[in-house]
Amino acid sequence: GKNTRRKEKEPMEGEASRTKTVCVTGAGGFVGSWLVKRLLSTGEYTVHVTVRDLGDRKTGHLRALEGAGERLRLFKADVLDYASVAYAVSGCGGVFHVASSVPADKPQNPEVEVLAPAVRGSQNVLKACHQAKVGRVVVVSSAAAVAMNPGFPRDAVLDEDAWSDEDHCRTAGMWYALSKTLAEREALAHAEKTGLDVVTVCPPLVLGPLLQRVANTSSLVLINLLKGDRDTVEDKARNAVDVRDLADAFVLAYETPEASGRYICGAYRKKLSEMAGIVESFCPDLARPVKFVEGEDDRMMSSKKLQALGWKFRAVEECLRDSVESYKAAGLLE
Ligand SMILES: NC(=O)c1ccc[n+]([C@@H]2O[C@H](COP(=O)([O-])OP(=O)(O)OC[C@H]3O[C@@H](n4cnc5c(N)ncnc54)[C@H](OP(=O)(O)O)[C@@H]3O)[C@@H](O)[C@H]2O)c1
Repeated sequence: GKNTRRKEKEPMEGEASRTKTVCVTGAGGFVGSWLVKRLLSTGEYTVHVTVRDLGDRKTGHLRALEGAGERLRLFKADVLDYASVAYAVSGCGGVFHVASSVPADKPQNPEVEVLAPAVRGSQNVLKACHQAKVGRVVVVSSAAAVAMNPGFPRDAVLDEDAWSDEDHCRTAGMWYALSKTLAEREALAHAEKTGLDVVTVCPPLVLGPLLQRVANTSSLVLINLLKGDRDTVEDKARNAVDVRDLADAFVLAYETPEASGRYICGAYRKKLSEMAGIVESFCPDLARPVKFVEGEDDRMMSSKKLQALGWKFRAVEECLRDSVESYKAAGLLE
């Protein structure tokens, strides 16, 4: 069962070994790395991971994880290349589709840089999962696929019925939000059409300590705020979640048989000025004069559906403290 820790390695046969073999796409990134760590830490899973670059800079931190020697298998795969994805997911009972492009700046060519990896990438992963008779696919979507809709009243608390408006995203040049909306819709439509078991998880801003060597886009939101090197910062309320709690949510979505559909996965909601204040309270040396200007708050959203599955999350203070410790150790605040 899912709660029994395997103390010794016994050979597993047939269906049992298949459900315990899972694949994580985009495994070298911020979110993917924590998910791989979480899966390996139970001692139960053999984890296939896809990375585009097998070099030490992108995979050294994965190879160093506890249990990696016995239960981690690295696959070089680009989600735009069907054959490479099909090879990585074959023999897997579960797949966590995490790979997607999260641009830090406005893309030059949104179609190529953002939309194709998300949409065609997801199509390839889903098709490969269907072919390989994967038991469940957990797709990482985003709050950006939920909330970007001018039709929603400002004071509404959004739930899983809310979808971002594709036309609005396109017109406003919100390419990342559009890419996640199209990819998630595609995933759920594929499930509907083929019977593949697909569950999607929609996190807002993901913070927390880094395992990977290069700071990712969402971590840079906090890093840049703390470095105080911007002229002004828009003081918006941001919904956020700790990357470790997000990894728990993925595993819960995979292991809970009755899980289905979408899950919003947000833990706390704070203005950026409040986040800076919390960091200063335990790290006074990080106090920087920041000029805050009014910004548009994130929409309010509810994670009740996920909490009903048993999801728990840590407090904002712990999330921010551990994030900052990790940035300091990596020299990212200098
Ligand atoms: N961080 C957040 O705040 C946040 C919020 C909501 C949703 N998400 C979602 O969480 C997932 C992971 O994001 P992250 O924050 O961990 O960002 P990240 O560190 O940039 O990771 C993105 C991963 O996707 C991979 N990737 C991109 N294009 C690919 C392609 N064509 N083929 C194969 N892999 C590709 C990257 O591989 P390389 O290392 O080779 O570039 C990287 O491993 C994404 O789906 C993102 O949309 C993140």
